[in-house]
Amino acid sequence: MHARCGSVTKGQGSSATASSTKSMRLAFYVMVQLYIFRKRLRTVEVMNATTQGLTDDELRSMADIIAKLPPPRPVEAAGGPARLDRGRALI
Ligand code: HEM
Repeated sequence: MHARCGSVTKGQGSSATASSTKSMRLAFYVMVQLYIFRKRLRTVEVMNATTQGLTDDELRSMADIIAKLPPPRPVEAAGGPARLDRGRALI
């Protein structure tokens, strides 16, 4: 699993019902993304390749797993201009 898998799991439910509704909506969202990656309707080469040959059931269970992941930790410090420069140097 990569950072992006966690990046779609935003938000925390305040009650069991709210969080399971959220998790169902998120699972649906993720499943649709995986589906359109598989069909190449959304182009991100690595994701198009990752989803090739997967069955609908496999996409569904991947989406269910991702939807249940804890939300990502908030970014602690913005890092400032020096960090941005280091990032630019990398790309
Ligand atoms: C089983 C493994 C993986 C799963 C379940 C997965 C799932 C996803 C999902 C659901 C999205 C859509 C996120 C969104 O629209 O908000 C996504 C996007 C993406 N994934 Fe993956 N992914 C996997 C592996 C990988 C790997 C190995 C890479 C790179 C080495 C990768 C790179 C990306 C990139 C670049 C995007 C697009 C991000 C963007 O548009 O902002 N994924 N992935």
